[in-house]
Amino acid sequence: EFVVRLAKRGIELLVPPDKAIIDVLREAGVEIKTSCEQGVCGTCLTQVIEGEPEHNDLYLSDEEHESGRLMTPCVSRARSKLLVLDL
Ligand code: FES
Repeated sequence: EFVVRLAKRGIELLVPPDKAIIDVLREAGVEIKTSCEQGVCGTCLTQVIEGEPEHNDLYLSDEEHESGRLMTPCVSRARSKLLVLDL
């Protein structure tokens, strides 16, 4: 599990191992645009402010994965205990 902090909203949410970030966001009433929810389309693309994403998508390039500045919260998770997103 890890914590997602939503920088614009100033809230922190715990993401358990069996849930996607977007599920946790929805439960907290935070709606973000999604489409495929399989890491393919890039609709949910979100900026990472702090922390290390664990990329599970097929959308971003290897370079973008390495830079860690963007992530797809529909399928990707965090390697770090805290992930700060621009949401
Ligand atoms: Fe398509 Fe996340 S909704 S990549």
